[in-house]
Amino acid sequence: MKNTVILISGRGSNMEALIAARAAGALPVDIAAVISNRPDAAGLATAMAAGIAVRCIDHKTFAGREAFDAALAACIDGFAPDLVVLAGFMRILGDDFVRHYAGRLMNIHPSLLPAFPGLHTHRRALAEGVRIHGCTVHFVTPALDHGPVIIQAAVPVLDGDDEATLAARVLRQEHRIYPQAVRWFAEDRLRVDGGCVRLAGARAGDGVLVVPEAR
Ligand code: GRF
Repeated sequence: MKNTVILISGRGSNMEALIAARAAGALPVDIAAVISNRPDAAGLATAMAAGIAVRCIDHKTFAGREAFDAALAACIDGFAPDLVVLAGFMRILGDDFVRHYAGRLMNIHPSLLPAFPGLHTHRRALAEGVRIHGCTVHFVTPALDHGPVIIQAAVPVLDGDDEATLAARVLRQEHRIYPQAVRWFAEDRLRVDGGCVRLAGARAGDGVLVVPEAR
């Protein structure tokens, strides 16, 4: 069973989706710990209630990013994970950190990458007038919100949407695709080949979820 550490910064609903999938027997991983960079992250209480070890490495107590990254990596490595899952983790991680976890560091981003990297993705999608939006799970590389795509879910942008309605529609799909991506990792089915993810034993459409009627 793959050993997993989840990093959060806030609400932790993606973390919760992973915990729920595991509890339902649909995610064959051990969740060794949940680590937050913010002591007030609501997700810490959720993780604790699920009986998972929690830690906080408060970025504000470090002089710079390198010292924070080193402390975070030391904390993570104490749990010897096979996979590190960024689930709404809102700190940019340095190149050394990312390289240390190459091939075993996943992120979820609320857009169809490479469109809309960075913050405020839903607001920007609405401002651009795109008709399709969504979310992406990818392996992390040193470039921000970039790296081999594992799975994406697409949703329509509907007339009358605002940032909140669009975010909610995307988030529902985040909660579907993150457990799926982690499950594939747990099953050893993901290989990165020339910057693209190959899914062993893939059936047509496995890496994409299109939700035409999602509300
Ligand atoms: C999600 O939309 C995630 O894609 C983004 O931040 C949000 C975190 O939500 N990176 P939660 O903490 O998982 O509820």
